Parts: sequence; structure tokens; C-alpha cells
Amino acid sequence: MSIEQTSPNPGASGAAKPRVAIVFGGRSSEHGISVSTAASVLRSIDRSKYEVLPIGITHEGRWALVDDDPARMSITDGKLPDVDGIAGSTEGQVALPGSPASREVVWSEPGAAPKALGEVDVVLPLLHGPWGEDGTLQGLLELSGVPYVGSGVLASAVGMDKEFTKRILESHGIGVGSYTVVKRDWETEEGRAAARTRIAALGLPLFVKPCRAGSSIGITKVKDLADLDTAIDEARRHDPKVIVERGVEGREIECAVLEFEDGPRASVPAEVLVGGGYEFYDFEAKYIDSSEVRIPAELDADDTAEIRRQAVAAFEALGCEGLARVDFFRLTDGSWVVNEINTMPGFTPISAYPKMWEASGLPYAELIDRLLQAALRRSTGLR
Ligand SMILES: Nc1ncnc2c1ncn2[C@@H]1O[C@H](COP(=O)(O)OP(=O)(O)O)[C@@H](O)[C@H]1O
Ligand SMILES: [Mg+2]
Repeated sequence: MSIEQTSPNPGASGAAKPRVAIVFGGRSSEHGISVSTAASVLRSIDRSKYEVLPIGITHEGRWALVDDDPARMSITDGKLPDVDGIAGSTEGQVALPGSPASREVVWSEPGAAPKALGEVDVVLPLLHGPWGEDGTLQGLLELSGVPYVGSGVLASAVGMDKEFTKRILESHGIGVGSYTVVKRDWETEEGRAAARTRIAALGLPLFVKPCRAGSSIGITKVKDLADLDTAIDEARRHDPKVIVERGVEGREIECAVLEFEDGPRASVPAEVLVGGGYEFYDFEAKYIDSSEVRIPAELDADDTAEIRRQAVAAFEALGCEGLARVDFFRLTDGSWVVNEINTMPGFTPISAYPKMWEASGLPYAELIDRLLQAALRRSTGLR
């Protein structure tokens, strides 16, 4: 694949270099991962092309100013970094422009006059999970009229919701596994009985998941219906809406999609090889133990072409923008089903998404550049 260079695109602030607000941390359980991702981006972003304003969101949701110092934002002694630990002030807040009439970002502290932090041309939201990847932050940026990297409100919200992702994909003829959804119906005797009947019809094993979560949090593999209630209760601790899926037998293959000037393109695919006696790619297998991600996946040319076609089709079906990682299962009969779509996939240099692009000829710094250029090309609002 040939990847042509992008040229700098001066932003609306009129400055020679577009000013990028890198937003990270946040209220989700993936806070620490997000901070260390931001450290990697701060180290790699092309400073000759972009000015940078790092903004950390604390666990409580306060937008704090942090120094442009990646060394303080990295994993040290096995401990994940934390915005509260690196924020300069414990009280002040960064506020986005209140309307599209201005691009001015403001710093305010109790008892002091607000201070202008200058204009921002584009936001790079490096946030995973709820309040970041789910359309809420995207809505705030739409109201402010500041362009941002990645999918808009609808695609972000749909991509976060495992039920609606499947419904949209199904309606576009893209394969998904069988599933059913349990909501507040689980709270009444009749509701539970009806849900158990629907679930039993799926067959075993089952995967019980919070409908809107990530990092395998709250997911249980159920091999015996006697364990179903415990699994549903566990998933409901994270989300009142639970999806129960039929467990599929097959290989786990992922594909990275990125928006180019002429539309989305798919990378070489990767295969997740869950080792070490893990039943599936759960939290420990992902982050603590070493599961291998093989890039490129060992697939023949036809399979590779097919998964890349389907990854782009899934990206377009959901109306994604910028980037997404589409995760598939290749079933034993050779057919494909989509497991899920991540609109802000893991983005450290050793995460699968950047590595798939690197293997496709696009190094990390250029990937960041492409994402920012795609965001600067489009405006906010209906598009
Ligand atoms: N229907 C399924 N059949 C087989 N394995 C599954 C199924 N659903 C999930 N898994 C396993 O569980 C892991 C986590 O599930 P996933 O839906 O990707 O949740 P998350 O959004 O937390 O990553 C997958 O990577 C896969 O290993
Ligand atoms: Mg997953």
C-alpha cells in the first residue's frame, strides 16, 4: 500500500501551525491507559507542524491543565499515571468555547479573573469508554464548534453499544453472532423467566456482557445455565443493559480502518492469540499477561481481502469517521462475523491499532498527522 505524505493545513486560529488540544484521562476505568497514551502522542506528534495544549480530565471530571511533559505521564514502577497526580492546580478548570463564535479556550479559578489560553483548532480526544468514546464528549465539542478527531456523536454512541452496533451491521448484511438483550425486565419474576427462555434458545456457551463497556470488564463466559443469573448480575453492576451472546468458535481477527482523503481504508489484519490457559481475551489476558497479537494475521489473500472489505463496510455502515478498529471472529466454516467496533481503540505505540498501520507502511507519527488532518478537513455540524 502506498501512503502519500500530507501537507500542513493551517487551522482556523490563523496561526501557521494548527493548535491541538490533547484531551486524556477521564472518568472511565481506562483513565490510566489514556494518560500513558497521551504521553506517547506528546512524544511523537510532529512539533514542526502542530502546537500542543495538553488537557487532563481528572477521575471526577475536572478539566485540568498539565505540563507538556510526557515523562511525568508514563507508567512508572508498574503504576499507571493519573491526571490528579500531574495537574498543576487542584481547583482551576479549562472551559471550551461556549459557542462556535469563538475558538478561545479559557482557564478559570475560584476568586480569580478568567485567563485566556488561546485558540484551539482541533481536539484529539484520547479517551476510552463512557464519557469519551460514547458520543458525550463529541456532543460537547459539536456545541463548542471545535473540530475533533474521530467519529461524531451518533457513530460514537452506536459503537459503544454492543446491541445497536449489531442491529446496524445486520441491516447492512454484515454478519454478527446471535444474541439477546436483558434490560429492566430482569427485575421482575416474569421478565426473568421470559429472558431465561430467550437465552436458553441461544445454546451454550454464552458470553454475558455489559452492553456499553470495554476492556472485557464485567464479561463472563457461561458454560452452564445454572451460572447465568450470577453472570447477569455481574454485568448489571456495570450497565443496566446486558447483552447475552452465543459463544462462537473461531479465530479472533482485527482490522484497523483509517480515513484518507479519498475515503476509509483498511490495514493489514491482526490475530489475537489468547494463550496461558485463558478461556477468552479477558482483562488479565489483555493487560496483565502476555497475549500475543500477530501482525499480519496468517490469512490467505482471499481472506485478507474479504476482511478488509468488511471492515470498511462496517465503518461506513455505522457512519464512523477518522478511525476505528473492527474486531471479527473467523468461524470454523470460513465465514466472518463482527464482534465489535471500537471508535477510539487502544492507541499506544504498542497497541494493535497503530501496529497494524505500521505494518501497512504508516508509522505512528504519520498516523497522528493523518488523523489530525482528517479532523481539520471537516467541520462540526451536519456533514
Ligand atoms: N460471542 C463470543 N464468542 C466467543 N468469544 C467471545 C464472544 N464475545 C466475546 N468473546 C471474547 O471476549 C473478549 C471480550 O469481548 P468484547 O465483546 O470484545 O468486549 P470488550 O468491549 O470489553 O473488548 C473478546 O475479545 C473474545 O475473546
Ligand atoms: Mg473487545
